[in-house]
Amino acid sequence: MSILFSEATFRSLTVRNRLWVSPMCMYSAVDGVVQEWHHTHLAQFASGGAGLVVAEATAVVPEGRISPRDTGLWNDEQRDAWAPIVQAIHERGAHAGIQLAHAGRKASTWWPWAERHGSIPAEDGGWTTSAPSAIAFEGFAAPVALDASGIDAVVAAFAAAARRAIDAGFDVVEIHAAHGYLLHQFLSPLSNERTDEYGGSLEGRARLLLRVLDAVRAEVGDAVPVFVRISATDHAEGGFDAAEASIVSAWASEHGADLIDVSSGGLVAHQSIDVFPGYQVGLAADVRRGGRIPTSAVGLITAAEQAEQVLVDGAADAIFVGREWLRDPHFGLRAAHVLGAQVRWPEQYLRARWH
Ligand code: FNR
Repeated sequence: MSILFSEATFRSLTVRNRLWVSPMCMYSAVDGVVQEWHHTHLAQFASGGAGLVVAEATAVVPEGRISPRDTGLWNDEQRDAWAPIVQAIHERGAHAGIQLAHAGRKASTWWPWAERHGSIPAEDGGWTTSAPSAIAFEGFAAPVALDASGIDAVVAAFAAAARRAIDAGFDVVEIHAAHGYLLHQFLSPLSNERTDEYGGSLEGRARLLLRVLDAVRAEVGDAVPVFVRISATDHAEGGFDAAEASIVSAWASEHGADLIDVSSGGLVAHQSIDVFPGYQVGLAADVRRGGRIPTSAVGLITAAEQAEQVLVDGAADAIFVGREWLRDPHFGLRAAHVLGAQVRWPEQYLRARWH
C-alpha cells in the first residue's frame, strides 16, 4: 500500500492522495486577474493525478505583488476569474488551494524573463515597497517600515483575500510566510529591527503571522484547512532557524493552522544553501517533531519512490512537487504506476493506462 497515494484529511476536506502541486508564480496575470494560461496550466496537473493543486503566490494588495504580472485577490473581478479554474480542478478529481501572499520589500520587481532585473523604477511602473524595517533586500530599492495602521491593513487584506478565495471555491488557503516575503521578513531578525510589539523576541516577530492566521481562520470558518508555508531557516548567520521555526509552528497550530509547508531561504541574497535531492526534508521532519503539527516536504523531490520514502520515514505528511510537474504534468499518474497504486485516470485517457 502506497502512503503517497493514500487519502489525507484536514478538517472537513479529504484529498485523494498526498502528492501535491507546489505553488508556482507564472507572472502572467493582467492587473492581478488570471488568464487562459493559468486555467490550462493548473487544470493539467489535476488531470495528471495531483491530489491538491495549490495556485501561485497571490497578492492580497496591489503593492504586495512580486511583479506587476502577479495574480491577486484584492477585488471581486480577480475572484470571479479564479472560479472556473477551481471548477476545472474539481472536475478532474483534485482539490484546489491558493497561496495568499504579500512580497513586502521584495515587491515591485521585474518578472524572471524580463530584460531587466531587480526593483522596477517608478518611471517604469514600480511602487514603494513596505516591510517591518527600512532595510533593503541586497540590490533592491529600500522599503518603508510599516506603521501600526499599515500592519492592521495587511491583516485585513489577508482576511478579505481568504474570503474571496473561499467564494471562488478554493478548498485550502495557504498563507505565504516563506522565501523572504513580508511575513517571513517579520519573522527574521535579519530583516526585522522593530522595537515595538512586532519585533524583538520571537513572540514579537511572530505576532503578525499569528494575527494573520487568526484573521484568516475567523473568515474561512472551522471547516477549511489553512496551511502556512515557512522558510525553516534563512541559511544565514543570525537569521531565523529550525529551532525558532518549530516554536512558531507550534504556535501556528494553536492558532488554527493545519499543516506547515516547510521550505527554506529567500530572505537574504548572501544565503548559503547546500542543494541536493530532498534537501529540505530534514527541516520538515524537525518542524513536524518540534512543532507537533503535520508538515509537507518540498524541494528536489522528483521521483515516486523518493516521495514515498519521505512519508514512510515519517518526515512529513504530504509532498509538494514543483518543477517535476512542469516537466511532466502527468507526474501523478506516472508516480502511481511506478508505485503500483490504483488511481482514477481521466476516462478520456484510459486507453493509455497500461499499454
Ligand atoms: C516557485 N516557487 C514558489 N514558491 C512559493 O511558495 N510560491 C510561489 O509562488 C512560487 N513560485 C515559483 C515559480 C516557479 C516557476 C518555480 C520553479 C518555483 C518554489 C516552489 O513552490 C518549490 O518550493 C520549489 O520549486 C522547490 O520544489 P521543486 O521544484 O524542487 O519540486
